[in-house]
Amino acid sequence: MDLRDQLDSPLFTHFIANYTHPTGPDLLARTEAFYEWQESRRQSGLWPYSRSLEGAPTAECSVRSEGGVARQGLNFGSQDYLSLSTHPQVVEAAHRAIRDYGVHSAGSGMFGGNTTPGLQLEQALGEHLKMPHVALFATGWGAGFGAIAGLVRPEDHVVLDALSHASLQQGASAATQKVSRVPHLNNRAMRRKLQELRASDVDHGILVVTEGLFSMDSDVPRIEELQSICHEYGATLLVDVAHDLGALGPSGTGSLGAQGLLGKVDLVVGSFSKTFSSNGGFVATRSAAVRQFVRVMGGPHIFSNAILPVQAAVALESLRIVRSPEGDALRAKAMENILALRAAFAERGVKCLGEPSNVVPVPLGDPKVARVASKLVFERGVFPNLVEYPAVRIRESRFRMQVMSSHSVEQMRHGAQVVLDAVEEARQLLAAPQTSPLRSLRVDAEPRARV
Ligand SMILES: Cc1ncc(COP(=O)(O)O)c(C=O)c1O
Repeated sequence: MDLRDQLDSPLFTHFIANYTHPTGPDLLARTEAFYEWQESRRQSGLWPYSRSLEGAPTAECSVRSEGGVARQGLNFGSQDYLSLSTHPQVVEAAHRAIRDYGVHSAGSGMFGGNTTPGLQLEQALGEHLKMPHVALFATGWGAGFGAIAGLVRPEDHVVLDALSHASLQQGASAATQKVSRVPHLNNRAMRRKLQELRASDVDHGILVVTEGLFSMDSDVPRIEELQSICHEYGATLLVDVAHDLGALGPSGTGSLGAQGLLGKVDLVVGSFSKTFSSNGGFVATRSAAVRQFVRVMGGPHIFSNAILPVQAAVALESLRIVRSPEGDALRAKAMENILALRAAFAERGVKCLGEPSNVVPVPLGDPKVARVASKLVFERGVFPNLVEYPAVRIRESRFRMQVMSSHSVEQMRHGAQVVLDAVEEARQLLAAPQTSPLRSLRVDAEPRARV
């Protein structure tokens, strides 16, 4: 069937948000409608999610779609920003940790799950951030959620930048019903909100939440101003540096380092799942009391097994490289690629969003065009991530192209050209009448399990 016949069908008009609140008494049966919709997208090659890598997250890689189709091509979907996951010394550190500690943390951080690499990582991170007290979590998700749920009680308030990550949003909702959101990066609106809250409540805490680099838009808040507004109104600032720490800023200190704020922000939360080529997360603070409180009162640290020793050892070795002259060189190479990619889009009139960072958001607009373009780029061996509503507004679909230091400038040019050609072709195909001589976009069931 021709895709153009289905432009007004749920294949194109529905989003995940259409299925988030199914009704009916049978919790299991009511998942079917979502599955059917997802399956129709899978069968049409329009479901670009949940793909699998068939090797390391290198610049060129083999990817398998959830429908079972394998493709070789250019990887723009990995968060291994400095390409440390295949760095010989990082791999060697992983082997050493497995040899010395086995492959299991064997308990939560409260109950015997801490290991020597974890303690060394806490210490090194504390030095890097100039925040001497660091608590580790098994994921960055757990760190953000746990920091908020650990500190905030139902009488307290949380005010989030509206685009804050889901871990932060859900941590806030789990902790209190007094959650507000202010427009993205709007420090004036934040001041007004804090003024309003303090006018009626001087007795309870206010936690303000933002990120060091917002990964859907690649933009950065003015953190010093935000911190000073918070202090003016007796609020506490939490900054999630998952995407910028290690990848940006002097010696990889991220937005905090770039803005001269190391050691000056109330709370810092982050993840090892991007530049640090591992899994795990952390909360960093200047206070020994805060560290202990968040560990014991924030659920994920105490009720989930600790970060594995091999994960901690990998993050530790990655941090060592991040802070070294080699880290500077890797960041410089990544930035050369980032600027080349953004320039290649600009040359053809497309302005990528935000500021130069390892995340390059390419605006696509129309969600139908975006879905077809994502099918075409996959077929042509270029693998960016498609971001759709509700992660962004309906008409703000975009490709999120993630750039690594192991990419080449030539690959940036090729990636941009394939994306731009695919978008152009998708627009023409969707606009063209049925009799158009343009190559027809057939909805063929994805052949299963090739390669
Ligand atoms: C801002 C932010 N915080 C937290 C996380 C979660 O990190 P992790 O993958 O380590 O759970 C992410 C991951 O995408 C993120 O973007």
